[in-house]
Amino acid sequence: MTRRMLIAGNWKMHGLRSDLGFFDQLEPQAALAAAAGVDVLVCPPATLLAPVAGHCGDSAILIGAQDCHTNSSGAHTGDVSAGMVRDAGAGYVILGHSERRSDHGETSALVCAKAEAAIMAGLIPIICVGETREQREAGEAFGIVGAQLAASLPAAARMAVIAYEPVWAIGTGLTASPSDVAQMHAFIRTRLPRPAGTRILYGGSVKPGNAGELMALDDVDGALVGGASLDIGQFGAIIDAAIHGCAAQ
Ligand code: PGA
Repeated sequence: MTRRMLIAGNWKMHGLRSDLGFFDQLEPQAALAAAAGVDVLVCPPATLLAPVAGHCGDSAILIGAQDCHTNSSGAHTGDVSAGMVRDAGAGYVILGHSERRSDHGETSALVCAKAEAAIMAGLIPIICVGETREQREAGEAFGIVGAQLAASLPAAARMAVIAYEPVWAIGTGLTASPSDVAQMHAFIRTRLPRPAGTRILYGGSVKPGNAGELMALDDVDGALVGGASLDIGQFGAIIDAAIHGCAAQ
C-alpha cells in the first residue's frame, strides 16, 4: 500500500487574522504537493479555524485543530468540541501533544477519549507520542512510546495519524538521529492495528536542513512541524523535501 505523505504545520499559540496572507502563498505549493502525493495541513489556533477555512475555500490546503474536548457539548468553559472544530472547517485534530500533556496534565486515557470523540465527529486524529530526555537516557524510550500508543489510540481507529515527537527535540533545535527515528517508527508500526494504512509523522525541530534526510526514511510518512511552519519559506522548503522524497521512491 502506498501511503500519501503528510506535512502538518502546528502553529501552536501563534497567528492572527492579519496572517491570512500566508495561505495565499502556500496555496500553489499545496496544489503541486497534492498532485505529487503529499498532503499539506495547517493547524492554526482555534480562533483562526473558521477564518482560515473561509479564506482557503476549496484549496488543496487541509486544516486541523490543535485539541478538542471529549464531549460533544456541555458546561466546559473555554473548551471546544470535536463537532465545533469540524463545523469551523477542520478535517484533522492534533491530540496529546506533549505541551498539552505537560501544560494540562493530559493522560493517554484522556487522549484516547478525545480521539474517539474526534472520529465520531468525522475528524482524523493526529495522536502524539514521545519520550523525555531522561526517559531516553534511561533506555525507556520504546517502553514509554509503546505504552502511550497502546493507551492513546482507540482500538477502532481506522483513520488515525501518529506523530512521534521526542519531547527533548521539540522547539530545541535538537533532532533525533535518523537511525533513532527509523528504529522508533519501525517499532511504532509493529504496534498499530492497521500498520500499512497508518501514517507516522516525525516531529521535533524539523527544518529545511534536516527534512530531506528524515522524510527519506522508510517508515516516516511526513512531519509535524512547529516553529518552521510559521515561516512560509521554511515550511515551503520542508514541503519541497517531501515532494522530492516521493519522486525518488
Ligand atoms: P518544533 O515543534 O518543530 O518547533 O520543534 C514541533 C511540535 O511541537 O509539533
